[in-house]
Amino acid sequence: LTEKDLMGEHILVTAGPTREPFDPVRFITNYSSGKMGYAIATVARRRGATVTLVSGPTHLSVPSGVEFLSVSTAREMRDAVLANLPEATVVIKAAAVADYRPAVREPQKIKKKDDDLTVKLERNPDIIQEIGKKKQNRILVGFAMESEHLVENAIAKMVGKNMDFIVANDLTKQGAGFQGDTNIISILDRDGEFQELPLMDKIEAAAIILDKVRKIRNSQLNN
Ligand code: C5P
Repeated sequence: LTEKDLMGEHILVTAGPTREPFDPVRFITNYSSGKMGYAIATVARRRGATVTLVSGPTHLSVPSGVEFLSVSTAREMRDAVLANLPEATVVIKAAAVADYRPAVREPQKIKKKDDDLTVKLERNPDIIQEIGKKKQNRILVGFAMESEHLVENAIAKMVGKNMDFIVANDLTKQGAGFQGDTNIISILDRDGEFQELPLMDKIEAAAIILDKVRKIRNSQLNN
């Protein structure tokens, strides 16, 4: 029996990679499996929240009881997130959004030539930064995946993007990051609290992240 301690919250979760095509059959992407975001959506639903899951392409099955929106590119993810933002009381951005997309999407398959091929990339919108600008009472949670200077980079992202807290994972550690069922996370918040957690299942990590959401909501309500 799970306590329904997130009843009344509407949690918008993003998960998975984005896919940025440069012709009808080719794209650039990253190794995100979507597992962390799906675990958060699953646990949030179990704990009584209304959940909207905006997901890039993954091989995972949709958690039951969750409103599911399937997207492919970063720009599609942005549109889906912004369309669902007004109802959201919490936004958790676990997606690994591609920072760049090919500047041109050729309508036909690019033919092979003897020459090298150059694909120009341009910046994608930063979704969480846009949300951070119109934050209101919403709790905003971001992720940081780093291969160096983890803590400094995570704090800079949290402050720069107006997040309440950030979940950092160190890509250099065994058992952390993209593809597996486990993760090694640290949680950093605006009060300078720093929680370093051991290796655990992504479902357990999701529960701890949602405990932190609950804690922030409580402290808002007590102020
Ligand atoms: O700066 P970086 O991309 O590492 O920041 C990570 C956080 O920002 C994640 O929560 C990610 O989902 C979010 N993000 C985003 N839109 C982007 C890039 C990252 O929302 N274009």
